[in-house]
Amino acid sequence: MKKTLIANWKENPKNEKMAIALFRAATKVRQLDNIQTIICPPFIYLEKIAGIAQSLHKKNHPLLGAQDVFWEDKGAYTGEVGPAMLKKLGVKYVIVGHSERRQWLNETDSMINKKIKAALDAGLHIILCVGESAVVRKKGIVASERFVKSQLVKDLKGISFDKKTSSQLMVAYEPIWAIGTGRSSTPKEAALMISYIKKTLTSHFAFRNFKVLYGGSVNNKNVDSYIQCNEIDGALVGGASLKAETWKAMVGKRT
Ligand code: 13P
Repeated sequence: MKKTLIANWKENPKNEKMAIALFRAATKVRQLDNIQTIICPPFIYLEKIAGIAQSLHKKNHPLLGAQDVFWEDKGAYTGEVGPAMLKKLGVKYVIVGHSERRQWLNETDSMINKKIKAALDAGLHIILCVGESAVVRKKGIVASERFVKSQLVKDLKGISFDKKTSSQLMVAYEPIWAIGTGRSSTPKEAALMISYIKKTLTSHFAFRNFKVLYGGSVNNKNVDSYIQCNEIDGALVGGASLKAETWKAMVGKRT
């Protein structure tokens, strides 16, 4: 199975010209054969970047993701963007439940659940983010597992996964204490939590064909230590995806 490396640009870069340059640089990388990349720019750059992506005929080019999605396709929902709008642009993936949205926008598990259902119905692929805070982590590994399990159970409630929909799901384990701090989880710790997540998803939801990624201070120096782990199916990358050279060093053929 290919490993997946996802660039989450968050609220960056500051203008369209820079976004296009960053995306174009990513398309010029001679990617590792065992890697699929997904790039998630802010909404306002999606249309332009989708146009560039569509003109590429390369085998292993980056796929396009959005950083969020709303659960309704149209209506009086100021500021929101629905699954059908994203689909029409050529977006294939959506990040849902990122801890920054949970923290700064008070996004709840029940909102995340609605977003996942709507996005799945539209045929989009989900990148569901879960992960414990430093406070929970301090209580130990069992408390962290319990926290993450509770997020998964609430976020995926009532969703029945058949063969098709389970391949539409990816989970990113992103411990909040590791995001943007430079204090990444060790590959061993991450692999343990990821295998716990896989076990939980298999026993609770009875689905199999899904990936679980690690996210939190992944960069060009440590990426190999994660993707070389059998348990870890890839990485969700923030800061290190914003520099063309660093991204290239992460996803490109090693010389
Ligand atoms: P950093 O890679 O900057 O730690 O961000 C991780 C993240 O939140 C990706 O979604």
